[in-house]
Amino acid sequence: MKKNASITSILAMGFMALAMTMPAAGAKWDDTLSPEQVEATLDQKFAEGNYSPKGADSCLMCHKKSEKVMALFDGVHGAIESSKSPMAGLQCEACHGPQGKHNRGGKEPMITFGKDVSLSAEKQNSVCMSCHQDDARMDWQGSHHDNADVACASCHSIHAATDPILEKQNEVEVCSQCHTRQQADMNKRSSHPMKWAQMTCSDCHNPHGSMTDSDLVKPTINDTCYSCHAEKRGPKLWEHAPVTENCANCHNPHGSVNDAMLTKRAPQLCQQCHASDGHASNAYLGNTAQGGEVGNNAFTGGRSCMNCHSQVHGSNHPSGKLLQR
Ligand code: HEC
Ligand code: HEC
Ligand code: HEC
Ligand code: HEC
Ligand code: HEC
Ligand code: HEC
Ligand code: HEC
Ligand code: HEC
Ligand code: HEC
Ligand code: HEC
Repeated sequence: MKKNASITSILAMGFMALAMTMPAAGAKWDDTLSPEQVEATLDQKFAEGNYSPKGADSCLMCHKKSEKVMALFDGVHGAIESSKSPMAGLQCEACHGPQGKHNRGGKEPMITFGKDVSLSAEKQNSVCMSCHQDDARMDWQGSHHDNADVACASCHSIHAATDPILEKQNEVEVCSQCHTRQQADMNKRSSHPMKWAQMTCSDCHNPHGSMTDSDLVKPTINDTCYSCHAEKRGPKLWEHAPVTENCANCHNPHGSVNDAMLTKRAPQLCQQCHASDGHASNAYLGNTAQGGEVGNNAFTGGRSCMNCHSQVHGSNHPSGKLLQR
């Protein structure tokens, strides 16, 4: 069913005086029907399959006054030239479902989208997935966002010239609406350069899910880090077990108040795993207030344990067994 011609002509005519019944504020079915009733009505409408013979033209009779609705035509989903676009098929009803009796005053529910509507995320997302079930969303089913009933439309905007989240400078802000802890970490003293959009959450995470625990873009945490910090990848002559095991043993990738995004400061960082008793003599760097808070003890002052064990990530030096040089 091609409706391109009528859409084009409607756009060309500047949407002449077609409007008769304008959507009235407060007439929303969400106020009068329970979520179950809405879903039941929608199921019924799909069963009957009463799509409007006039497609978008019929919807726009009532909805064209809304700038937001009309912005659809500035974006990919309103593109009338693409054969895969909704506009080449059922048009508005490809997403919002069959009109049915909705045109009788707008009281019969249509499919609605976003995090603030009563329709379940699963129902909403099945609409999007009917066209977007591809490699990028191979692991959507069972992903953290799918399991937590996050709607595609919580992150994506359709009625817009460009979907904001697809622009690097907006992504972090959208994620932060729900992930406030990571946002707080990001603003700490040491962090990945996400504040200035040089990096985004999706450099490390696939928001559409992946095979890993935290929906990472690579099969493991370390592989994710190596994709940019290749110099930290082994094998090294002398490896440090916690490093090859998991970078997050010592680093919080979202940010930290400590240097180099360390989860704790040395020596405490190292002493989580290494007992200090029985260690080589306490070397002094002079001017030590022993027992004082900032003793210039080689163990606690400056770079602490790293004063002597400088190659915490592993060493390729023949005598680097103790992670020096
Ligand atoms: C006779 C007028 C009329 C026609 C035709 C019409 N609508 Fe509506 N529509 C309304 C009214 C009235 C509302 C309820 C008021 C509101 O929510 O803005 C509404 C609400 C909606 C909503 C929910 C809006 C929201 O804020 O959540 C969607 C989505 C919608 N219509 C889509 C469509 C689509 C798609 C078509 C064409 C298949 C269509 N409408 C045809 C009048 C109409
Ligand atoms: C009828 C098919 C269809 C449906 C339904 C559909 N899309 Fe699309 N979508 C497309 C096409 C065609 C494109 C253009 C790019 C392409 O060819 O993949 C696209 C592109 C996109 C893009 C990339 C946008 C850009 O600017 O490059 C996003 C994001 C997207 N869709 C999200 C959604 C979401 C969310 C939904 C559900 C609310 C949805 N789509 C429903 C067909 C569809
Ligand atoms: C948690 C936020 C979030 C959710 C939920 C989400 N997306 Fe995305 N989506 C993004 C981000 C960020 C990008 C751009 C970066 C990327 O591609 O990973 C994107 C990119 C896209 C693109 C364009 C590039 C590509 O991957 O093809 C499409 C299409 C898309 N999403 C569809 C969907 C659909 C369909 C759903 C629901 C099943 C969905 N998205 C759910 C955040 C989200
Ligand atoms: C590709 C799927 C898709 C198509 C096609 C589509 N919509 Fe939407 N519509 C959405 C989504 C998703 C939202 C939620 C807001 C957003 O993402 O921009 C929405 C929101 C709306 C709203 C509520 C707007 C508001 O003010 O909150 C109305 C009304 C509406 N659409 C009508 C239409 C009409 C009329 C058409 C055809 C001209 C249409 N839609 C085509 C997906 C679609
Ligand atoms: C509408 C709210 C919402 C938005 C927006 C959102 N998320 Fe989520 N996200 C959730 C919920 C809910 C969960 C599941 C509960 C949890 O683990 O925090 C989740 C889980 C996750 C997880 C898995 C957490 C784990 O336990 O391993 C990651 C990673 C994630 N989100 C990344 C992102 C990224 C990246 C973005 C932006 C592209 C984003 N989220 C946007 C709500 C959201
Ligand atoms: C440099 C890579 C990287 C970036 C950038 C990144 N993350 Fe993560 N994220 C990770 C890793 C690795 C984990 C797993 C940590 C673990 O298991 O100890 C994780 C875990 C998470 C979790 C699960 C809870 C937790 O903290 O363990 C959420 C939610 C999350 N990230 C959201 C985000 C959001 C939102 C952004 C953007 C503001 C973001 N991440 C940016 C690497 C990153
Ligand atoms: C997309 C690329 C990218 C990925 C993936 C990545 N990083 Fe980074 N990392 C950077 C950039 C860029 C910087 C900042 C470099 C600079 O400021 O000179 C950085 C800096 C760092 C720093 C030093 C911060 C400081 O304050 O000195 C640490 C530690 C770090 N990353 C750890 C990790 C860990 C752990 C992972 C895996 C969870 C990871 N990175 C994944 C790009 C990345
Ligand atoms: C045993 C704890 C520990 C583990 C595990 C660890 N790091 Fe580090 N990392 C440190 C310490 C301590 C520093 C600060 C170095 C200094 O002050 O000399 C640091 C600094 C860094 C820096 C910034 C300075 C530099 O050397 O470039 C990057 C980047 C980095 N680590 C990446 C990683 C990556 C990637 C992994 C996983 C392969 C990892 N780290 C695992 C302790 C660790
Ligand atoms: C998560 C636990 C953990 C943390 C944190 C940790 N290490 Fe280790 N470290 C190990 C393990 C396990 C080994 C291997 C021990 C072995 O092979 O006997 C090791 C080995 C070493 C060795 C070589 C010892 C030898 O006999 O080969 C040195 C030196 C060392 N660590 C220093 C540090 C320093 C400095 C820090 C802090 C920046 C640190 N470690 C943080 C677990 C940790
Ligand atoms: C002044 C230099 C110096 C500082 C500072 C230092 N070490 Fe050492 N460390 C050595 C030397 C030299 C050896 C080898 C001699 C020995 O085994 O006693 C050694 C051995 C080790 C070993 C392997 C032997 C063992 O005890 O199992 C570990 C692990 C270790 N240090 C961890 C640490 C940690 C953790 C810190 C910080 C709390 C630290 N070192 C601070 C010089 C230092």
